Amino acid sequence: MNNYKNRYSETTRPTMYRALKYWGKKPHNIWNKLICEYSNPKDIVFDPFAGSGLTFFECINAGRFPIISDINPLTDFIIDVYSCSIDYKELNNYFVKIIDSVKALKYYKENYMCRCKECGSQTDIYNYAFENDLCIKISYKCMHCGATVSEPINQIPECDKFEFWVPEYDISKFRTVCKSSLKKFGGNDIKNIWPKSALQISSAIFHYIDDVPEPYKKVLTFAFLQTVHLTTKMCASRSETTNRPLSTSWGRPAYMYLKNRLEQNPLVQFIRAYSGPNGIVNAFKSRDMYLKPYSFKNNILFSDSVSGISICGDIKSLHLAEQSVDLIITDPPYGDIIQYGELSVIWNIWLTKMYPKYKINLNDEIIVKGESSENKYLEDMTAVFNICWSVLKDKGKCILTFNSNNEKDWKLLFNSIENTHFSIVDFFAQNNLRSSESNVSAKSGQAISDYYIVLSKTGKDKSVNLKKSIFSESGV
Ligand SMILES: C[S@@+](CC[C@H](N)C(=O)[O-])C[C@H]1O[C@@H](n2cnc3c(N)ncnc32)[C@H](O)[C@@H]1O
Ligand SMILES: [Zn+2]
Repeated sequence: MNNYKNRYSETTRPTMYRALKYWGKKPHNIWNKLICEYSNPKDIVFDPFAGSGLTFFECINAGRFPIISDINPLTDFIIDVYSCSIDYKELNNYFVKIIDSVKALKYYKENYMCRCKECGSQTDIYNYAFENDLCIKISYKCMHCGATVSEPINQIPECDKFEFWVPEYDISKFRTVCKSSLKKFGGNDIKNIWPKSALQISSAIFHYIDDVPEPYKKVLTFAFLQTVHLTTKMCASRSETTNRPLSTSWGRPAYMYLKNRLEQNPLVQFIRAYSGPNGIVNAFKSRDMYLKPYSFKNNILFSDSVSGISICGDIKSLHLAEQSVDLIITDPPYGDIIQYGELSVIWNIWLTKMYPKYKINLNDEIIVKGESSENKYLEDMTAVFNICWSVLKDKGKCILTFNSNNEKDWKLLFNSIENTHFSIVDFFAQNNLRSSESNVSAKSGQAISDYYIVLSKTGKDKSVNLKKSIFSESGV
């Protein structure tokens, strides 16, 4: 596949696209260029697998009418949050109140405050580092003298009870959890993926957010969701050579216990998610500059030049009129690389507690969960392409991006396309600047590209050639 040249170059993403984690986000500017290349102003553009909402936002900028859906309620939530008007001062007042309330808690002071080694003032502990399950040091950036300090530990965080609500959800049946991790986490319930002391603080932050009036409550919930995966027992310490003792990430798409890990202070993470470089304040400011003005109410979009709709649900039960769409652009699930639903539970479990309408539906997700479900995936994807065929106008195109190192996934995709009347009329590769499904699953040293496939209701079918090149060359 390396012979297919890059059509466009990816540019840096505005902060609004960086703020919340969603596995496999696509490059915004390439999406925008494809929308503009394959449709006309005021055309209707449909994305049945909208993920982090890219098609919705890029259609606003391109002056197209977006119709988007995703089974994951996070999509709806992201769009809802970015569509609200906020007064930054008022937002800040609510934020400060939450910080003050948490800092006043006795167990916060005991577990997450220490005396700075450099200036002697009280400051917040950023994290506890574990090596082979032994707590070896704490690190912090002193809020008074600014020093970044790591020092051997003389206390470990403790917690005997939770004062506020904590999530509960049995994850033992998840494909993304390995049995040995479950034991080390301490049980089948999702609450065990967090250290108890961190969960105690997260649940307090969450509780105080619940008291905030809208729309600030949802904006602060959005910031909170940015933190929850970063305060688990799944985040690795960075190596000493990077000299970054204060940060970490959840890199592997699985619920995996790490014995060498950083247990982070949820309040510090929340402050970062609010005012850090990729925090919500910057994300909203980038939205103000990047997106053309629009309003959004009850899932309907209004703006001067476009309107549109966002729907949370299963694409297979979506009813759109035949021949009503000018362009389909979408990024369907790739076999079993990323188990979106299972992995999203970490965020959705909190989100649903705050807003019951965002309940996750894992049953109807289109995904491969082991060989036995390959046929189901094929059947589902065939149904999706049949829906796309029916809603697309005769001259319209359906653009897909797909990525897998697994030949089986490609075969399933091709077979599902072949089960319909679509022809493959174009395909190209795009190098990615940043993380996507491709490098999450790639072996080291492999090129990291997304592949784009253009389908047409009429036209010369290139699928024979494409299939040959995919299945004869190694390192798809
Ligand atoms: C590869 S991701 C899309 C990511 C997106 N391109 C982005 O930039 O964020 C595939 C999406 O398909 C969604 N999905 C899976 N099954 C679905 C179904 N039955 N109906 C609608 N969406 C579904 C998943 O929730 C996931 O968000
Ligand atoms: Zn200091």
